[in-house]
Amino acid sequence: MTVKVALCFLMIHCVFKDIRVKANKVDVCASCHKTATCDDKTDGSGGKVCNCMYGFVGNGRTHCQDKDECQLGRICGDHTRCHNTYGSYYCTCLAGYSPSNHMNTFIPNDGTYCHDLDECSVQGVCGEGGLCQNTDGDFTCSCQIGYTVQDGPEPFNPNRDAAYCKVIDCGSPPSVLHADRLSPTITHYSSELQYGCREGFQWKRGQNSSVCGLDGKWHGPSLVCEAHCGPAPEVPHAEVAWDNNTAVIHRCVTGHYRHTGSDISICDITGKWQVATLHCKELKLIINDLVVINERCLHWNAENEGYREIYTVTFVGLRDFDRPFSDRRKKMFNSTAPLPVLCLNLLPATNYTITITAESTRATSTVTANTSIPVPPTPVITYSEVEASSPTLRLRRSTNTLDSICMYQVFVFPVEGVMLFDCSSSVSPRFFSQQRCDRGYVTAQIQLSGLSAELNFTVGDQQLYGDFFNAPLENGKDYYIILRTVCQWGKSRTQSCVIWAKARGTSYIMKMSALVTVGSISAVGSVIVIGYWYSWYCKKCSPRFFSPVL
Ligand SMILES: *[C@@H]1O[C@H](CO)[C@@H](O)[C@H](O)[C@H]1NC(C)=O
Ligand SMILES: *[C@@H]1O[C@H](CO)[C@@H](O)[C@H](O)[C@H]1NC(C)=O
Ligand SMILES: *[C@@H]1O[C@H](CO)[C@@H](O)[C@H](O)[C@H]1NC(C)=O
Ligand SMILES: *[C@@H]1O[C@H](CO)[C@@H](O)[C@H](O)[C@H]1NC(C)=O
Ligand SMILES: *[C@@H]1O[C@H](CO)[C@@H](O)[C@H](O)[C@H]1NC(C)=O
Ligand SMILES: *[C@@H]1O[C@H](CO)[C@@H](O)[C@H](O)[C@H]1NC(C)=O
Repeated sequence: MTVKVALCFLMIHCVFKDIRVKANKVDVCASCHKTATCDDKTDGSGGKVCNCMYGFVGNGRTHCQDKDECQLGRICGDHTRCHNTYGSYYCTCLAGYSPSNHMNTFIPNDGTYCHDLDECSVQGVCGEGGLCQNTDGDFTCSCQIGYTVQDGPEPFNPNRDAAYCKVIDCGSPPSVLHADRLSPTITHYSSELQYGCREGFQWKRGQNSSVCGLDGKWHGPSLVCEAHCGPAPEVPHAEVAWDNNTAVIHRCVTGHYRHTGSDISICDITGKWQVATLHCKELKLIINDLVVINERCLHWNAENEGYREIYTVTFVGLRDFDRPFSDRRKKMFNSTAPLPVLCLNLLPATNYTITITAESTRATSTVTANTSIPVPPTPVITYSEVEASSPTLRLRRSTNTLDSICMYQVFVFPVEGVMLFDCSSSVSPRFFSQQRCDRGYVTAQIQLSGLSAELNFTVGDQQLYGDFFNAPLENGKDYYIILRTVCQWGKSRTQSCVIWAKARGTSYIMKMSALVTVGSISAVGSVIVIGYWYSWYCKKCSPRFFSPVL
């Protein structure tokens, strides 16, 4: 350019010289525009012509102006930009393209072309974690796995967009109760952290690692801790009845009993045993002073300090008078009482042997109990007043398991003055041995076993009943007929009495008179007192009046 300008400057001087030299002659060349050249005419006339210089257009004399070559279409080729200059122009490649001559500019037709520039060949164009994708004349960035785009959409171009890739970081790792992290703390995507149980704890279930996920969150760990307290704790005088590592049930060893406290040890969350408070005491139980009271209840002295002892009570009841009979029973009983009481349903008139055994110490004690004979039940009678030489009386008796040791005694009592009858008296006077006129006598004695449930007894039939003479009743005399039931075994004896009838002895009226029923009268008490107004027959008796006490 400077060269050109210098040249022009020189040329202008020459022209001016020529104009001045050939002033009188029309000098064409002198009229040429400063950016034109004076050339020989090509028609051979020897004339001169002004031609605008290369890069200029015009008539060569009055004007020669710059020619904008860039207007002439895509003269630089594809992916180029055309730059016009004064009198000339040049070409450059568009952004994203690179000239094949490796220079900044070029001119057309020198063989230079613009080819796509691979921006991705430059390391790090997309920044950390960016993934470069070359396109025709451009490139885009996306984020690698483990990175997320920040401040813009994806894909992005770092030259135009503010977006960039940022590593996924899950932040501070989760903590797990009773567990420690084993691996170094790396918190970005796909980092895996291992956890292990602390001392005193053991893995129970769940995953023991945590992984940083694409969502920027920790996944896991899910491990659960359970305390591991080691072997079951010792409890004095106790053994382990059940154990599952976290809970232990203790029980007192044989010869000891649970006195106080809980029998469960628990492994707590700190990995330590909470030892059972069980207190086992030595068993010393013995059974002392075993007695039977009221023929029914057992009393004994156990001195067991509140321990619930289980007792086994066996009893065997036998009756000498009834060999096939046996009442054998066994009963379990438990009590914490130091003086336990156990009432049994013992049968009457039986010799019992009762043995009581304490389950824990096998302490045992035996006692005998002889139950008494109960007062015999009164037979069902209908009191009647009869007039007959041999009155027949009827009764329905109640049967009883003790019948083999029981009998009836039929008493005949003359109704004379004051009559005293003692039911409990064991005296059984006979007809022939009567001492006094106002005394009664036994007219019949009948064993109950072998009797049918209904009995018709005829007073005065002159038969022997159990060695007693059933004497005829005296004509015209009044008698009370009393029925006594006696049960007797060994030295024990019980009885009950009932007035069966009032009879008037007649030798001439043979039929039984109409009965005057006064209802059923029974007297179980030991003394029957029957009042009677003065009687001439028995002068020894004082005339007194008594109301019947029945
Ligand atoms: C992880 O868990 C497995 C059971 O899934 C277990 O066998 C392993 O010991 C555990 N690792 C640690 C370090 O606790
Ligand atoms: C052990 O037993 C206790 C009490 O029944 C229960 O709570 C606990 O879950 C059990 N432990 C295991 C490991 O089975
Ligand atoms: C009870 O035992 C005594 C003595 O051995 C005996 O005399 C008596 O007959 C027995 N009593 C019964 C009801 O067996
Ligand atoms: C003690 O006796 C009661 C009532 O008979 C019974 O329910 C309980 O199971 C017994 N206890 C023992 C330890 O045998
Ligand atoms: C009870 O019977 C036994 C025999 O079984 C006897 O040795 C004891 O003397 C009797 N006791 C009484 C009070 O009858
Ligand atoms: C007792 O006497 C009544 C009436 O005389 C009679 O019907 C009944 O069969 C008698 N009973 C017996 C056991 O003889």
